[in-house]
Amino acid sequence: MTKIISLLILVLFLLFIVNTLSSISAEDKNCASVFAGTCAECHELDRGCELLGQSQKEWKELFEYMEEMGADISKDEQTLLSNCLNKPDDETKAECK
Ligand code: HEC
Repeated sequence: MTKIISLLILVLFLLFIVNTLSSISAEDKNCASVFAGTCAECHELDRGCELLGQSQKEWKELFEYMEEMGADISKDEQTLLSNCLNKPDDETKAECK
């Protein structure tokens, strides 16, 4: 009986950890926060603001261009951003006000 109870507690504890970790990474991967954080690292965020809504292909081309110019932007961020900045949500647009 005690074994079952400790096992249950362990399972609940693991669920708690998984839940906490996934909510943290969901926050990290938020389009608006990655956009505002990453794009302002090397130059004005304004440069990206003008381009919100351009196609996924155009975003990929811009990332390639910046890499050619010496920028180092992680593949994860590139994928995330080229998938969300072509149809920016209100939160992302609000970063540009
Ligand atoms: C690691 C540094 C770095 C990051 C991060 C970065 N850029 Fe750039 N970006 C550059 C460099 C280098 C250039 C080319 C030199 C210049 O124009 O200042 C550039 C140029 C640009 C240009 C001008 C392109 C052109 O045709 O002249 C735009 C627009 C731009 N970046 C938008 C963005 C956006 C949007 C983000 C976020 C997704 C971003 N940048 C993130 C380094 C970076």
